[in-house]
Amino acid sequence: SKTSKLAYCIKGTFVHSTDSSPMEILQDHIMGVNSNGKIEFFENARKQVELAKKWRFSESDIRELGSHEFCMPGMVDTHIHASQYSFSGTALDLSLLDWLDKYTFPTERKYKEAEFAKTIYSSIVRRTLRNGTTTACYFATIYTDSSLLLAEIANNYGQRAFVGKVCMDINNCAANYKETTDESIAETERFIKEFLERKYCRVKPIITPRFAVSCSEELLQELGELAKIHGTHIQSHISEAVGEVESVKTLFPNYKHYTDVYDKSKLLTDKTVMAHGCYLSDEELAIFRERGAAISHCPNSNISLCSGHLDVRKVLKHKVKIGLGTDVAGGYCSSMLDAIRRAIDTSKVLYIQYELGSSHSNQQTMPTSKTFSIQKEKYTALSYKEAFRLATLGGSQALNIDDVTGNFQIGKEFDAILVSPCVPGGPFDVFADDTFEDVVQKFLNLGDDRNIKGVYVAGQQVVPLPNA
Ligand code: GUN
Ligand code: ZN
Repeated sequence: SKTSKLAYCIKGTFVHSTDSSPMEILQDHIMGVNSNGKIEFFENARKQVELAKKWRFSESDIRELGSHEFCMPGMVDTHIHASQYSFSGTALDLSLLDWLDKYTFPTERKYKEAEFAKTIYSSIVRRTLRNGTTTACYFATIYTDSSLLLAEIANNYGQRAFVGKVCMDINNCAANYKETTDESIAETERFIKEFLERKYCRVKPIITPRFAVSCSEELLQELGELAKIHGTHIQSHISEAVGEVESVKTLFPNYKHYTDVYDKSKLLTDKTVMAHGCYLSDEELAIFRERGAAISHCPNSNISLCSGHLDVRKVLKHKVKIGLGTDVAGGYCSSMLDAIRRAIDTSKVLYIQYELGSSHSNQQTMPTSKTFSIQKEKYTALSYKEAFRLATLGGSQALNIDDVTGNFQIGKEFDAILVSPCVPGGPFDVFADDTFEDVVQKFLNLGDDRNIKGVYVAGQQVVPLPNA
Protein backbone atom coordinates (compact mmCIF):
# COMPACT_ATOMS: atom_id res chain seq x y z
CA SER A 1 0.00 0.00 0.00
CA LYS A 2 1.05 3.62 -0.45
CA THR A 3 1.30 4.24 3.30
CA SER A 4 4.13 1.77 3.94
CA LYS A 5 7.66 2.89 3.13
CA LEU A 6 10.14 0.81 1.20
CA ALA A 7 12.73 -0.68 3.57
CA TYR A 8 15.18 -2.29 1.14
CA CYS A 9 15.62 -3.97 -2.24
CA ILE A 10 17.28 -7.23 -3.16
CA LYS A 11 18.43 -7.96 -6.72
CA GLY A 12 19.44 -11.32 -8.13
CA THR A 13 18.00 -14.84 -8.42
CA PHE A 14 14.90 -15.96 -6.50
CA VAL A 15 13.66 -19.53 -6.20
CA HIS A 16 10.18 -20.34 -4.92
CA SER A 17 7.06 -22.46 -5.40
CA THR A 18 3.62 -21.48 -6.60
CA ASP A 19 0.36 -23.41 -6.85
CA SER A 20 1.09 -24.13 -10.51
CA SER A 21 4.84 -24.84 -10.28
CA PRO A 22 6.83 -26.65 -7.60
CA MET A 23 9.89 -24.55 -8.42
CA GLU A 24 10.26 -21.30 -10.29
CA ILE A 25 13.76 -19.91 -10.77
CA LEU A 26 13.58 -16.19 -11.46
CA GLN A 27 16.94 -14.75 -12.45
CA ASP A 28 17.79 -11.06 -12.58
CA HIS A 29 14.79 -10.00 -10.53
CA ILE A 30 14.37 -7.18 -8.07
CA MET A 31 12.34 -7.39 -4.89
CA GLY A 32 11.23 -4.52 -2.67
CA VAL A 33 10.47 -5.16 1.00
CA ASN A 34 8.48 -2.50 2.84
CA SER A 35 8.71 -1.22 6.41
CA ASN A 36 6.02 -3.70 7.46
CA GLY A 37 8.25 -6.55 6.29
CA LYS A 38 6.00 -7.31 3.33
CA ILE A 39 6.93 -7.87 -0.29
CA GLU A 40 6.01 -4.62 -2.03
CA PHE A 41 7.14 -5.49 -5.53
CA PHE A 42 8.84 -8.38 -7.30
CA GLU A 43 9.72 -7.75 -10.91
CA ASN A 44 12.21 -8.40 -13.65
CA ALA A 45 15.22 -6.11 -13.13
CA ARG A 46 14.62 -4.53 -16.52
CA LYS A 47 11.91 -2.56 -14.68
CA GLN A 48 14.47 -1.16 -12.21
CA VAL A 49 14.50 2.44 -13.47
CA GLU A 50 10.72 2.64 -13.39
CA LEU A 51 10.57 1.06 -9.91
CA ALA A 52 13.35 3.28 -8.55
CA LYS A 53 11.40 6.35 -9.63
CA LYS A 54 8.14 5.15 -8.12
CA TRP A 55 9.63 3.92 -4.85
CA ARG A 56 12.43 6.51 -4.59
CA PHE A 57 15.40 4.24 -4.13
CA SER A 58 18.86 4.54 -5.59
CA GLU A 59 21.44 2.02 -6.76
CA SER A 60 23.12 2.11 -3.33
CA ASP A 61 19.88 0.98 -1.61
CA ILE A 62 19.96 -2.31 -3.54
CA ARG A 63 21.54 -5.42 -2.09
CA GLU A 64 22.87 -7.30 -5.10
CA LEU A 65 23.36 -11.08 -4.78
CA GLY A 66 26.48 -12.84 -6.12
CA SER A 67 26.29 -14.81 -9.35
CA HIS A 68 25.46 -18.23 -7.84
CA GLU A 69 23.63 -16.85 -4.84
CA PHE A 70 19.86 -17.00 -4.52
CA CYS A 71 16.98 -16.20 -2.21
CA MET A 72 14.44 -18.89 -1.37
CA PRO A 73 11.48 -18.86 1.04
CA GLY A 74 12.33 -19.73 4.63
CA MET A 75 11.54 -23.34 5.46
CA VAL A 76 8.52 -24.33 7.55
CA ASP A 77 9.06 -27.09 10.12
CA THR A 78 5.50 -28.27 10.73
CA HIS A 79 6.41 -30.62 13.59
CA ILE A 80 9.28 -30.39 16.05
CA HIS A 81 9.65 -31.22 19.76
CA ALA A 82 11.79 -28.39 21.17
CA SER A 83 12.05 -30.27 24.46
CA GLN A 84 13.58 -33.35 22.82
CA TYR A 85 16.49 -31.45 21.26
CA SER A 86 18.69 -32.29 24.28
CA PHE A 87 18.85 -35.95 23.22
CA SER A 88 18.61 -35.61 19.44
CA GLY A 89 21.09 -37.85 17.70
CA THR A 90 20.82 -40.48 20.44
CA ALA A 91 18.28 -43.00 21.75
CA LEU A 92 17.07 -44.38 18.43
CA ASP A 93 17.12 -48.08 19.32
CA LEU A 94 13.47 -48.54 20.33
CA SER A 95 10.12 -48.32 18.64
CA LEU A 96 7.71 -45.50 19.42
CA LEU A 97 5.87 -46.51 22.60
CA ASP A 98 8.96 -47.94 24.32
CA TRP A 99 11.02 -44.96 23.13
CA LEU A 100 8.50 -42.59 24.74
CA ASP A 101 8.62 -44.45 28.07
CA LYS A 102 12.37 -44.96 28.24
CA TYR A 103 13.79 -41.73 26.81
CA THR A 104 11.19 -39.11 26.05
CA PHE A 105 9.00 -38.82 29.15
CA PRO A 106 11.99 -38.83 31.57
CA THR A 107 13.63 -36.08 29.49
CA GLU A 108 10.52 -33.93 29.23
CA ARG A 109 10.16 -34.09 33.03
CA LYS A 110 13.33 -32.02 33.35
CA TYR A 111 11.54 -29.02 31.84
CA LYS A 112 9.86 -28.27 35.14
CA GLU A 113 13.13 -26.42 35.83
CA ALA A 114 13.09 -23.06 34.04
CA GLU A 115 16.88 -22.83 33.80
CA PHE A 116 17.19 -26.20 32.11
CA ALA A 117 14.35 -25.33 29.74
CA LYS A 118 15.89 -21.98 28.88
CA THR A 119 19.21 -23.51 27.85
CA ILE A 120 17.75 -26.17 25.56
CA TYR A 121 15.00 -23.97 24.13
CA SER A 122 17.48 -21.22 23.26
CA SER A 123 19.70 -23.80 21.55
CA ILE A 124 16.96 -25.27 19.39
CA VAL A 125 15.58 -21.89 18.33
CA ARG A 126 19.09 -20.75 17.41
CA ARG A 127 19.84 -24.02 15.64
CA THR A 128 16.67 -24.11 13.56
CA LEU A 129 17.04 -20.45 12.58
CA ARG A 130 20.62 -21.03 11.41
CA ASN A 131 19.33 -24.01 9.41
CA GLY A 132 16.86 -21.75 7.63
CA THR A 133 13.66 -22.62 9.50
CA THR A 134 11.71 -19.35 9.56
CA THR A 135 8.54 -20.97 10.91
CA ALA A 136 8.50 -23.77 13.48
CA CYS A 137 5.52 -25.59 14.97
CA TYR A 138 6.77 -26.67 18.39
CA PHE A 139 5.72 -29.19 21.02
CA ALA A 140 7.08 -28.07 24.42
CA THR A 141 6.17 -30.18 27.51
CA ILE A 142 3.29 -30.45 29.99
CA TYR A 143 4.73 -27.57 32.03
CA THR A 144 2.93 -24.30 31.30
CA ASP A 145 5.54 -21.82 32.50
CA SER A 146 8.47 -23.35 30.68
CA SER A 147 6.30 -23.69 27.56
CA LEU A 148 5.61 -19.95 27.78
CA LEU A 149 9.36 -19.48 28.05
CA LEU A 150 9.81 -21.23 24.68
CA ALA A 151 7.34 -18.78 23.14
CA GLU A 152 9.28 -15.87 24.58
CA ILE A 153 12.59 -17.22 23.29
CA ALA A 154 11.22 -17.78 19.75
CA ASN A 155 9.79 -14.26 19.82
CA ASN A 156 13.07 -12.75 21.06
CA TYR A 157 15.03 -14.39 18.25
CA GLY A 158 12.42 -13.30 15.70
CA GLN A 159 11.27 -16.75 14.62
CA ARG A 160 7.71 -17.28 13.44
CA ALA A 161 6.31 -20.07 15.60
CA PHE A 162 3.47 -22.01 17.08
CA VAL A 163 4.13 -23.24 20.61
CA GLY A 164 2.11 -25.93 22.37
CA LYS A 165 1.90 -26.92 26.01
CA VAL A 166 1.59 -30.71 25.80
CA CYS A 167 -1.55 -32.34 27.25
CA MET A 168 -1.62 -35.93 28.52
CA ASP A 169 -3.67 -37.47 31.33
CA ILE A 170 -3.48 -41.26 30.82
CA ASN A 171 -0.81 -43.92 30.20
CA ASN A 172 1.98 -41.60 31.18
CA CYS A 173 2.82 -42.74 34.69
CA ALA A 174 5.99 -44.67 33.99
CA ALA A 175 8.26 -41.70 34.55
CA ASN A 176 5.93 -39.82 36.85
CA TYR A 177 5.43 -37.38 34.02
CA LYS A 178 1.77 -36.73 34.44
CA GLU A 179 -1.12 -34.37 34.93
CA THR A 180 -4.75 -35.00 35.79
CA THR A 181 -7.54 -34.28 33.34
CA ASP A 182 -8.58 -31.16 35.26
CA GLU A 183 -5.01 -29.89 35.54
CA SER A 184 -4.42 -30.42 31.84
CA ILE A 185 -7.51 -28.40 30.89
CA ALA A 186 -6.96 -25.63 33.46
CA GLU A 187 -3.29 -25.30 32.54
CA THR A 188 -4.11 -25.14 28.83
CA GLU A 189 -6.53 -22.31 29.55
CA ARG A 190 -3.90 -20.49 31.59
CA PHE A 191 -1.34 -21.13 28.84
CA ILE A 192 -3.55 -19.56 26.18
CA LYS A 193 -4.56 -16.64 28.39
CA GLU A 194 -1.02 -15.70 29.47
CA PHE A 195 0.29 -16.32 25.95
CA LEU A 196 -2.21 -13.96 24.35
CA GLU A 197 -1.56 -11.27 26.97
CA ARG A 198 2.01 -11.06 25.70
CA LYS A 199 0.80 -9.93 22.29
CA TYR A 200 3.57 -11.47 20.22
CA CYS A 201 3.27 -10.67 16.52
CA ARG A 202 4.37 -13.94 15.02
CA VAL A 203 4.36 -16.49 17.83
CA LYS A 204 1.04 -18.17 18.56
CA PRO A 205 -0.31 -20.79 20.96
CA ILE A 206 -1.37 -24.17 19.61
CA ILE A 207 -3.54 -26.68 21.45
CA THR A 208 -1.53 -29.88 21.83
CA PRO A 209 -3.04 -33.17 22.93
CA ARG A 210 0.03 -35.44 22.78
CA PHE A 211 -1.85 -38.26 20.99
CA ALA A 212 -4.92 -40.40 21.61
CA VAL A 213 -2.86 -43.02 23.48
CA SER A 214 -2.11 -40.55 26.28
CA CYS A 215 -5.35 -38.57 26.34
CA SER A 216 -8.72 -39.49 27.84
CA GLU A 217 -11.88 -39.00 25.86
CA GLU A 218 -12.85 -36.18 28.23
CA LEU A 219 -9.55 -34.37 27.75
CA LEU A 220 -9.75 -34.63 23.95
CA GLN A 221 -13.26 -33.22 23.95
CA GLU A 222 -12.43 -30.34 26.30
CA LEU A 223 -9.41 -29.42 24.18
CA GLY A 224 -11.60 -29.44 21.08
CA GLU A 225 -13.92 -27.01 22.85
CA LEU A 226 -11.05 -24.74 23.90
CA ALA A 227 -9.74 -24.64 20.34
CA LYS A 228 -13.17 -23.62 19.12
CA ILE A 229 -13.62 -20.90 21.78
CA HIS A 230 -10.20 -19.34 21.17
CA GLY A 231 -9.92 -20.08 17.44
CA THR A 232 -6.53 -21.66 18.09
CA HIS A 233 -4.48 -24.01 15.99
CA ILE A 234 -4.30 -27.69 17.01
CA GLN A 235 -1.51 -30.26 16.71
CA SER A 236 -1.07 -33.89 17.63
CA HIS A 237 0.18 -37.23 16.29
CA ILE A 238 -1.83 -39.78 14.29
CA SER A 239 -1.23 -43.27 12.88
CA GLU A 240 2.53 -43.09 13.23
CA ALA A 241 3.31 -46.68 14.25
CA VAL A 242 1.61 -50.08 14.31
CA GLY A 243 1.74 -50.49 18.10
CA GLU A 244 0.20 -47.07 18.57
CA VAL A 245 -2.65 -47.76 16.12
CA GLU A 246 -3.38 -51.03 17.97
CA SER A 247 -3.44 -49.22 21.32
CA VAL A 248 -5.92 -46.66 20.02
CA LYS A 249 -8.21 -49.48 18.85
CA THR A 250 -8.14 -50.96 22.36
CA LEU A 251 -8.51 -47.63 24.19
CA PHE A 252 -11.28 -46.26 21.95
CA PRO A 253 -13.37 -49.30 20.94
CA ASN A 254 -16.45 -47.23 20.13
CA TYR A 255 -14.82 -45.22 17.36
CA LYS A 256 -14.65 -46.13 13.70
CA HIS A 257 -10.93 -45.51 13.37
CA TYR A 258 -8.08 -43.33 14.71
CA THR A 259 -9.22 -40.30 12.71
CA ASP A 260 -12.72 -40.65 14.13
CA VAL A 261 -11.34 -40.26 17.69
CA TYR A 262 -9.98 -36.79 16.91
CA ASP A 263 -12.86 -35.88 14.62
CA LYS A 264 -15.56 -36.62 17.22
CA SER A 265 -13.66 -34.34 19.63
CA LYS A 266 -13.68 -31.50 17.08
CA LEU A 267 -9.91 -31.63 16.86
CA LEU A 268 -9.81 -31.82 13.06
CA THR A 269 -10.17 -28.29 11.71
CA ASP A 270 -8.53 -26.22 8.99
CA LYS A 271 -6.04 -25.10 11.65
CA THR A 272 -5.04 -28.65 12.60
CA VAL A 273 -1.75 -30.33 11.77
CA MET A 274 -1.32 -34.02 12.58
CA ALA A 275 2.12 -35.59 12.48
CA HIS A 276 2.90 -38.77 10.52
CA GLY A 277 -0.30 -40.45 9.26
CA CYS A 278 1.64 -43.43 7.87
CA TYR A 279 -1.27 -45.84 8.34
CA LEU A 280 -4.24 -43.65 7.43
CA SER A 281 -6.81 -45.29 5.13
CA ASP A 282 -8.42 -43.65 2.11
CA GLU A 283 -11.54 -43.15 4.21
CA GLU A 284 -9.57 -41.35 6.92
CA LEU A 285 -7.75 -39.15 4.40
CA ALA A 286 -11.11 -38.18 2.92
CA ILE A 287 -12.11 -36.89 6.37
CA PHE A 288 -8.89 -34.88 6.60
CA ARG A 289 -9.73 -33.34 3.24
CA GLU A 290 -13.26 -32.49 4.30
CA ARG A 291 -12.15 -30.83 7.52
CA GLY A 292 -9.20 -29.02 5.92
CA ALA A 293 -6.83 -30.70 8.37
CA ALA A 294 -3.19 -31.18 7.39
CA ILE A 295 -0.48 -33.81 7.72
CA SER A 296 3.09 -33.22 8.78
CA HIS A 297 5.34 -35.73 7.03
CA CYS A 298 8.34 -36.55 9.25
CA PRO A 299 10.41 -39.04 7.27
CA ASN A 300 13.54 -39.03 9.43
CA SER A 301 11.49 -39.99 12.47
CA ASN A 302 9.51 -42.61 10.57
CA ILE A 303 12.72 -44.34 9.55
CA SER A 304 14.68 -43.77 12.79
CA LEU A 305 11.97 -45.26 15.02
CA CYS A 306 11.13 -47.89 12.36
CA SER A 307 7.55 -46.61 12.43
CA GLY A 308 6.67 -46.96 8.76
CA HIS A 309 6.53 -44.90 5.59
CA LEU A 310 4.09 -42.20 4.60
CA ASP A 311 3.00 -42.36 0.97
CA VAL A 312 3.06 -38.66 0.04
CA ARG A 313 1.57 -39.40 -3.40
CA LYS A 314 -1.48 -40.91 -1.74
CA VAL A 315 -1.91 -37.85 0.49
CA LEU A 316 -1.55 -35.51 -2.49
CA LYS A 317 -4.09 -37.56 -4.50
CA HIS A 318 -6.57 -36.99 -1.69
CA LYS A 319 -5.78 -33.26 -1.83
CA VAL A 320 -4.94 -33.22 1.86
CA LYS A 321 -2.64 -30.36 2.87
CA ILE A 322 0.88 -31.60 3.65
CA GLY A 323 4.14 -30.14 4.90
CA LEU A 324 7.40 -31.56 6.21
CA GLY A 325 8.59 -31.87 9.81
CA THR A 326 11.86 -32.83 11.45
CA ASP A 327 10.09 -34.37 14.47
CA VAL A 328 13.18 -33.81 16.62
CA ALA A 329 14.13 -36.06 18.41
CA GLY A 330 12.35 -39.12 16.95
CA GLY A 331 13.91 -37.56 13.88
CA TYR A 332 17.55 -36.97 14.72
CA CYS A 333 18.19 -33.94 12.52
CA SER A 334 16.88 -30.43 13.17
CA SER A 335 17.45 -29.26 9.59
CA MET A 336 14.60 -29.07 7.11
CA LEU A 337 17.14 -29.81 4.37
CA ASP A 338 17.38 -33.27 5.94
CA ALA A 339 13.57 -33.56 5.90
CA ILE A 340 13.62 -32.76 2.17
CA ARG A 341 16.24 -35.48 1.53
CA ARG A 342 14.46 -38.09 3.66
CA ALA A 343 11.12 -37.32 2.01
CA ILE A 344 12.71 -37.99 -1.38
CA ASP A 345 14.41 -41.16 -0.09
CA THR A 346 11.16 -42.46 1.40
CA SER A 347 9.27 -41.95 -1.82
CA LYS A 348 12.08 -43.69 -3.75
CA VAL A 349 11.85 -46.64 -1.36
CA LEU A 350 8.11 -46.82 -2.11
CA TYR A 351 8.84 -46.57 -5.83
CA ILE A 352 11.27 -49.49 -5.53
CA GLN A 353 8.65 -51.52 -3.68
CA TYR A 354 5.74 -50.64 -5.95
CA GLU A 355 7.34 -50.54 -9.38
CA LEU A 356 10.43 -52.74 -9.17
CA GLY A 357 9.19 -55.24 -6.60
CA SER A 358 6.75 -56.78 -9.05
CA SER A 359 9.36 -57.23 -11.78
CA HIS A 360 11.27 -59.50 -9.42
CA SER A 361 7.98 -61.37 -8.95
CA ASN A 362 8.56 -61.30 -5.22
CA GLN A 363 5.23 -61.42 -3.42
CA GLN A 364 6.87 -60.01 -0.31
CA THR A 365 7.62 -56.70 -1.97
CA MET A 366 4.38 -56.33 -3.88
CA PRO A 367 2.48 -53.14 -3.17
CA THR A 368 0.64 -53.12 0.11
CA SER A 369 -0.55 -49.52 0.00
CA LYS A 370 -4.11 -48.59 -0.75
CA THR A 371 -2.65 -46.21 -3.33
CA PHE A 372 -3.28 -48.77 -6.01
CA SER A 373 -6.98 -48.75 -5.45
CA ILE A 374 -7.19 -45.14 -6.58
CA GLN A 375 -4.32 -45.05 -9.02
CA LYS A 376 -3.68 -47.10 -12.10
CA GLU A 377 -0.80 -45.14 -13.58
CA LYS A 378 2.85 -45.71 -12.74
CA TYR A 379 4.06 -44.67 -9.31
CA THR A 380 6.53 -41.81 -9.43
CA ALA A 381 8.91 -40.78 -6.68
CA LEU A 382 8.85 -37.20 -5.41
CA SER A 383 11.08 -34.87 -7.38
CA TYR A 384 13.46 -32.55 -5.55
CA LYS A 385 11.26 -29.69 -6.71
CA GLU A 386 8.17 -31.23 -5.14
CA ALA A 387 10.06 -31.82 -1.90
CA PHE A 388 11.18 -28.18 -1.97
CA ARG A 389 7.56 -27.10 -2.26
CA LEU A 390 6.55 -29.32 0.68
CA ALA A 391 9.26 -27.67 2.83
CA THR A 392 8.14 -24.14 1.99
CA LEU A 393 4.70 -23.42 0.48
CA GLY A 394 3.30 -26.82 1.53
CA GLY A 395 4.26 -26.20 5.15
CA SER A 396 2.66 -22.77 5.14
CA GLN A 397 -0.54 -24.28 3.73
CA ALA A 398 -0.47 -27.06 6.33
CA LEU A 399 -0.28 -24.44 9.10
CA ASN A 400 -2.90 -22.26 7.40
CA ILE A 401 -0.53 -19.30 7.16
CA ASP A 402 -0.09 -19.32 3.38
CA ASP A 403 -1.84 -15.95 3.18
CA VAL A 404 1.17 -14.55 5.07
CA THR A 405 4.19 -16.65 4.08
CA GLY A 406 5.41 -19.64 2.03
CA ASN A 407 6.53 -18.01 -1.21
CA PHE A 408 7.39 -14.64 -2.76
CA GLN A 409 3.90 -13.50 -3.69
CA ILE A 410 3.44 -9.73 -3.41
CA GLY A 411 1.77 -8.77 -0.15
CA LYS A 412 3.19 -11.72 1.81
CA GLU A 413 5.75 -11.17 4.54
CA PHE A 414 9.34 -11.61 3.44
CA ASP A 415 10.45 -14.89 5.12
CA ALA A 416 13.57 -15.91 3.25
CA ILE A 417 16.97 -17.52 3.19
CA LEU A 418 19.93 -16.06 1.36
CA VAL A 419 21.87 -19.02 -0.01
CA SER A 420 25.55 -18.84 -0.92
CA PRO A 421 26.44 -22.05 -2.74
CA CYS A 422 30.12 -21.18 -3.10
CA VAL A 423 31.61 -20.70 0.34
CA PRO A 424 35.25 -21.49 1.19
CA GLY A 425 35.38 -24.89 2.88
CA GLY A 426 31.69 -25.40 2.12
CA PRO A 427 29.92 -28.74 1.76
CA PHE A 428 29.84 -28.96 -2.05
CA ASP A 429 31.37 -27.59 -5.23
CA VAL A 430 29.86 -25.70 -8.14
CA PHE A 431 31.40 -26.11 -11.59
CA ALA A 432 31.35 -23.95 -14.68
CA ASP A 433 28.80 -25.99 -16.60
CA ASP A 434 26.31 -26.27 -13.72
CA THR A 435 22.94 -24.77 -14.55
CA PHE A 436 21.12 -22.74 -11.92
CA GLU A 437 18.81 -25.72 -11.40
CA ASP A 438 21.88 -27.86 -10.71
CA VAL A 439 23.10 -25.34 -8.14
CA VAL A 440 19.74 -25.30 -6.36
CA GLN A 441 19.57 -29.10 -6.41
CA LYS A 442 23.10 -29.37 -5.03
CA PHE A 443 22.20 -27.04 -2.17
CA LEU A 444 19.05 -29.02 -1.34
CA ASN A 445 20.92 -32.33 -1.42
CA LEU A 446 24.33 -31.32 -0.08
CA GLY A 447 24.04 -27.89 1.51
CA ASP A 448 23.99 -26.91 5.16
CA ASP A 449 24.07 -23.84 7.39
CA ARG A 450 27.48 -22.84 5.99
CA ASN A 451 25.61 -21.93 2.82
CA ILE A 452 22.95 -19.91 4.65
CA LYS A 453 24.33 -16.39 4.77
CA GLY A 454 21.20 -14.67 5.96
CA VAL A 455 17.74 -15.52 7.24
CA TYR A 456 14.83 -13.06 7.22
CA VAL A 457 11.50 -13.27 9.01
CA ALA A 458 8.91 -10.65 8.07
CA GLY A 459 11.66 -8.61 6.47
CA GLN A 460 13.79 -8.55 9.59
CA GLN A 461 17.22 -10.19 9.40
CA VAL A 462 17.46 -12.82 12.17
CA VAL A 463 20.62 -14.69 10.99
CA PRO A 464 23.52 -14.11 11.55
CA LEU A 465 22.33 -14.54 15.11
CA PRO A 466 22.96 -11.92 17.76
CA ASN A 467 26.19 -12.73 19.63
CA ALA A 468 26.81 -15.75 17.40
N1 GUN B 1 3.61 -39.75 19.71
C1 GUN B 1 3.33 -39.26 20.94
N2 GUN B 1 4.32 -38.53 21.43
C2 GUN B 1 5.29 -38.54 20.51
C3 GUN B 1 6.60 -37.95 20.45
O1 GUN B 1 7.06 -37.26 21.36
N3 GUN B 1 7.31 -38.20 19.32
C4 GUN B 1 6.82 -38.93 18.30
N4 GUN B 1 7.58 -39.11 17.21
N5 GUN B 1 5.61 -39.50 18.32
C5 GUN B 1 4.86 -39.31 19.43
ZN1 ZN C 1 6.29 -35.81 17.15
